[in-house]
Amino acid sequence: MEYKRILLKLSGEALMGERQYGIDPKRLSEYAKEIKEVVQKGIQVAIVIGGGNIFRGVAGAANGMDRVQGDHMGMLATCINGLALQSALEDQDVNTRLQTALEIKEVAEPYIKRKAIRHLEKGRVVIFGAGTGNPYFTTDTAAVLRAIEIDADAILKGTRVAGIFDVDPEKNKNAVKYETITFKEVIAKGLKVMDMTAFTLSEENKLPITVFDMNTNGNLLKLVSGEKIGTIVTN
Ligand code: GTP
Repeated sequence: MEYKRILLKLSGEALMGERQYGIDPKRLSEYAKEIKEVVQKGIQVAIVIGGGNIFRGVAGAANGMDRVQGDHMGMLATCINGLALQSALEDQDVNTRLQTALEIKEVAEPYIKRKAIRHLEKGRVVIFGAGTGNPYFTTDTAAVLRAIEIDADAILKGTRVAGIFDVDPEKNKNAVKYETITFKEVIAKGLKVMDMTAFTLSEENKLPITVFDMNTNGNLLKLVSGEKIGTIVTN
């Protein structure tokens, strides 16, 4: 196996499947199966999930809502997704723990780094909810932060596209995918991988980010087995 411990970043929107909002149970269970396959190979899996299928703080602010208020709503949305993913994983008999950056003790454990690591060592999937617990930070930043804290080998960003392209593959058929690219090249070419806070945090800590298509069955397992799936961003 290529990795021992991964941080998987999933977008909230991905959970919508074909829907316009909310959670598609079919998509959720597909994701749970993909994750189970990786856990069965002995890989330690931590997950950060977004909340955009339920609420996005930035979108709220665009409509005149106080940004901090909107971001708090977004953080709670990630907890809802975290609970849904936890439930789907447990349906597949995968042991999980949900830890949240905002304390909602009756619902989930508070985030404690050492405890998260122990859970991972015991083969439990650890889902981190509520982002970083702070407004103005994205769940991508939360993913990088948690990955660094738990000493993950890599951040695997599951998306609906196959990787990083020179131009938008959903708008241009001739788009060319990069197999590898450096942090500096991504910035120089103006490509969008993550927001700059997340991106520079990853670069400074020499933590590679792999962007891959999470909606193709078996991709996650192939990726952790060392197959060249998606695009890897390195120093
Ligand atoms: P170890 O025994 O240390 O291996 O881990 P464990 O998670 O099994 O032990 P613990 O006794 O901490 O947790 C037992 C169960 O309670 C697990 O399902 C935890 O997720 C859950 N749990 C632990 N702390 C909290 C908390 O603060 N809030 C909530 N809601 N659940 C918690």
